[in-house]
Amino acid sequence: MNKQFYITTAIDYTNGAPHLGHAYEKVVTDTIARARRSLGQETFFLTGVDEHGQKVQQAAQAEGKSPKAYCDELAVIWKGLATTLGLTNNDFVRTTDERHKRVVGAILSKLHQQGDLYKDSHTGFYSVREETFLTEKDRNPDGTWDPKWGQVIELKEDNWYFKMGKHQQWLIGYIESTPSFVQPDYRRNEVLGFLKSQPLEDLCITRPASRLSWGIPLPFDPEFVTYVWFDALTNYITVPASLGDPAVCGPLGLATNNHQPSTSLWPADIHVIGKDIVKFHAVYWPIMLHAAGIALPKQILAHGWWQKDGTKMSKTTGNVVEPTAVINEWGLDAFRFYVLRELDIGPDGNWTDAGFKARYQAELANGLGNLVNRSLSMLKRYRDGTVPAPANDLSTDAARAIADVCGQLERNELQAALQSIWTLITRANQFVDQTAPFKLAKDPAQAQRLDEVLYNLVETCRIIAVLLWPFLPTTSCRINEQLGLTGAPDQFTGVHWGGLKQGHAIGAPAPLFPRKEP
Ligand code: ME8
Ligand code: MG
Repeated sequence: MNKQFYITTAIDYTNGAPHLGHAYEKVVTDTIARARRSLGQETFFLTGVDEHGQKVQQAAQAEGKSPKAYCDELAVIWKGLATTLGLTNNDFVRTTDERHKRVVGAILSKLHQQGDLYKDSHTGFYSVREETFLTEKDRNPDGTWDPKWGQVIELKEDNWYFKMGKHQQWLIGYIESTPSFVQPDYRRNEVLGFLKSQPLEDLCITRPASRLSWGIPLPFDPEFVTYVWFDALTNYITVPASLGDPAVCGPLGLATNNHQPSTSLWPADIHVIGKDIVKFHAVYWPIMLHAAGIALPKQILAHGWWQKDGTKMSKTTGNVVEPTAVINEWGLDAFRFYVLRELDIGPDGNWTDAGFKARYQAELANGLGNLVNRSLSMLKRYRDGTVPAPANDLSTDAARAIADVCGQLERNELQAALQSIWTLITRANQFVDQTAPFKLAKDPAQAQRLDEVLYNLVETCRIIAVLLWPFLPTTSCRINEQLGLTGAPDQFTGVHWGGLKQGHAIGAPAPLFPRKEP
């Protein structure tokens, strides 16, 4: 079986409700997954939740629930977010899944058998909030701890450590020789800067079960549970392993699926993550895989963080964007459009309600919505909804947009691709103004010119529906339906000029983005 394009999101901590940052990452990943499928690649998109560890245990305690009961409730909410966002994920992994625990157990056992793990005792300062021991470098010059660490306590405890340090030079070499591994480049440079500036310490991969019970027990020492990050990162190979992918099952000694031709997902093509967790993905994860004899993911793609009105989103101050509320009021595609158009993958972004409304009005209602509505309405009014013979005034503009979008999607340049699509939309709207079909319609001598103009417009709408599908799937399907076409416009192969045939009857036009009163 051919290897599928395998793309993942970070798995979210279920210690609260989803917010804009979580939703953004899922929409970016879904758009890339849809784009790959549209370009003809078989694609597997995985998302899920990170349920173990102190944060979740504390959140459950605060509600007086057992961690498992609490997680089961939240899993419903997080799966609901995937539905609300229109995600095309092929699976949804929970770190409490048996299939996941089995894989975490397998990788730990392998590293243990190889002598890559050792037990040691450590005394130090520990951040409860970040679930991490702090070093002297984390201390403020005046000896205090930054409030970002929350409560800091002194702890002495035994734990299991992973010999990570010995792979430092290998990893530096790998990242230096593989520029595409960490993207954007400035994140890659940060990782290299970190790796070159200090010796890489071994990683503490357990917590004593006496202190933290909510985790996956070590297969060879039941007094410990697995550190939540070691557990969480492994999620990316859980689903390949459970589908019998030999690239994971082989090195871990797990059974492959004998009954069907085995699924080939690993190595992942892209892990989409936020900038705050680059170190875990670009340092810990590749070393875990390398030590276990498993191939590395091809790319870590790090997006930036959203603020609202120029300040950090925070529930305590009420400065939040609730994706579901926005979607209920404005529609899913308006939300997807704003986040993908406003923010390129990489830099930080700033949500403003005014900016959202402005883009809705100008680009969705007046730009796209107006083009489609007037093109289809004029074909209805002047030609009874029947497509005239093909004409080519806009075919060059369309071909340019198609080529641009294709290349941009292959490079995951989602914002740029939307700009290319809107260049075509703007051009087509200008074409209406320049050719003035409402005037042509009054002059019987211009009947053929009117046919040509109308063909150009409806065919451009059809192409726009194909280009938009990865980004605005609902709108794209609605355009197709209004054009009287069946099925989703979800294949780039259908994008070439001339797809609408003479005599085809379109459906009923209806506004795509109703204007909202201010
Ligand atoms: O870090 N803007 O989970 P998480 C953009 N469980 N992205 C944001 C954001 C914001 N304001 N806030 C959070 C974890 N994110 C771990 C991941 S993966 C093996 C384990 C992003 O719920 C964040 O960068 O804290 C991360 O990629 C994702 O949301 C989940 O964050
Ligand atoms: Mg976080």
